[in-house]
Amino acid sequence: MQTREQQWWRGAVAYQVYVPSFADSIGDGVGDLDGVSERLDALVWLGVDVIWLSPIFESPMRDGGYDISNYHDLNPMFGDLAALDRLIEAAHELNIRVLLDWVPNHTSTDHPWFVESASSTTNTKRDWYVWVDEAGDAPPNNWQSCFAAVGSAWSRHPITGAWYLHSFLREQADLNWDNPAVVAAAHDVMRFWLDRGIDGFRIDVVHNLGKDPDLADNPSIIVRPTPETAGRRLDEDHWPNLWHKIAGIRSVLDEYPGTIAVGESYVLDAGRLAEYTRPGRLHLAHDFTLTELDWDATAFVAAIDASNRAVGENGWPAWILSSHDHGRLATRWTTTGALAPPGTGVADTGRAEAALTLLLLMRGTPFLFQGEELALPDATGGANLDVDGRSRSRAPLPWTNETNAGFTAGTPWMAVPETARALNRQHQRTNPDSTLRFIRDLIALRRDHRALRDGSQQISVDDGVLHLDRRHGEQHIVVSINMSLEPRTIDPISTPLLTRGTATAGGRVCLDPNGIVVTVA
Ligand code: NOJ
Repeated sequence: MQTREQQWWRGAVAYQVYVPSFADSIGDGVGDLDGVSERLDALVWLGVDVIWLSPIFESPMRDGGYDISNYHDLNPMFGDLAALDRLIEAAHELNIRVLLDWVPNHTSTDHPWFVESASSTTNTKRDWYVWVDEAGDAPPNNWQSCFAAVGSAWSRHPITGAWYLHSFLREQADLNWDNPAVVAAAHDVMRFWLDRGIDGFRIDVVHNLGKDPDLADNPSIIVRPTPETAGRRLDEDHWPNLWHKIAGIRSVLDEYPGTIAVGESYVLDAGRLAEYTRPGRLHLAHDFTLTELDWDATAFVAAIDASNRAVGENGWPAWILSSHDHGRLATRWTTTGALAPPGTGVADTGRAEAALTLLLLMRGTPFLFQGEELALPDATGGANLDVDGRSRSRAPLPWTNETNAGFTAGTPWMAVPETARALNRQHQRTNPDSTLRFIRDLIALRRDHRALRDGSQQISVDDGVLHLDRRHGEQHIVVSINMSLEPRTIDPISTPLLTRGTATAGGRVCLDPNGIVVTVA
């Protein structure tokens, strides 16, 4: 059990750094670790407490670094170990903690473990991956890759003719976590980085570590995915054999007091998700439910309420509204609030700000994705279009009004969208009405009020207006967000402390659509 002090993550604001697109320090067009170190002041100014770095390990980069070929060294495109040491030291001096993105479910097929494992059915590492050796022409079961374009989660390997499991790309082979040697090697990887002084991990697809030991067909699989359900596999995840694997991961972290793990637990059921953070398991588990909702107060309230009920008074949610896998908030919805198909959303800064208000002021640890504090829209122009739509949130960050928006002195690996240049950080920092300044105000408000950081929460909806009622001791704060498409009038409990998109008349406050009012009683 961590002490209250060690539970720093409860009151923290977390920020996801997608390293290739954050800042380039050497002019090769790709963001790097020194680029992050040099720009940490921007995150301190914003009020960030902890950063999560997207994968930086050696990798052939077939899936943005989520295909690791060596867990013990860094991808030179991001810098060397000394650059990571510099970043950890600089961050710690500024009171910012650093989490690495660890990918334990699978390795690149270029990883020497896989190369060995694939070399013969009798190799000592054969059982490090999930193989079905009987050569047959059909895959061993109906499991599908999470990437719809890949199809079956099984491929035959040319050397032995056996099938191996890959829950993602064919070049990302699933490790066999039922093999104690794999678990021991994984724990060694954790210790290697924890010894270097990091503060913990974001754990990629942690729900996937537990698999059906019988490798039976999944009865609820969506065999022909529609674009909306692309590759989603339902009951296949979350096998009971997951928990002792998670407990083992936790026991390694407990050797390093104050370090944490946040699971990428893509489980959209509140009850199941809450299982991940029970005592002795993970500190935090990302809740993705809100990323899949229309802009609808009733739906949001139901999801937030369900999550808080499931984790209970002693539990703690971790909220994600966007990431390198999701579309940007500003372009997520149609004008009427329906989720927009990739590339079709109409930019609505006010709505992005309203969504971020909720993220930052509700109960739980908020995870901001880089660029949301600038209300960037999806990058969908020209070369930025891709097969699965994920690159729309991965474009280089705009820092200034200079060439390539100050991201690089060279040619950026991905085009800097024209729209982003107008939203650059330098400009927003000097403009008091900017999204950036507003997000900074929200974070400061949260930091200055215990009721917002770790108070109790009642959540309700009234005529399309979402209300958060946060309390700690005598402190009582009400946050109202108009999620309807029409203006709404409310009677605040006292003089508003912070407003956006509102007008006051005779003590009543009229909220425009996306209008926000925060009052302290
Ligand atoms: C989840 C990561 O966020 C995503 O980007 C990646 O493709 C898959 N896991 C596979 O590692």
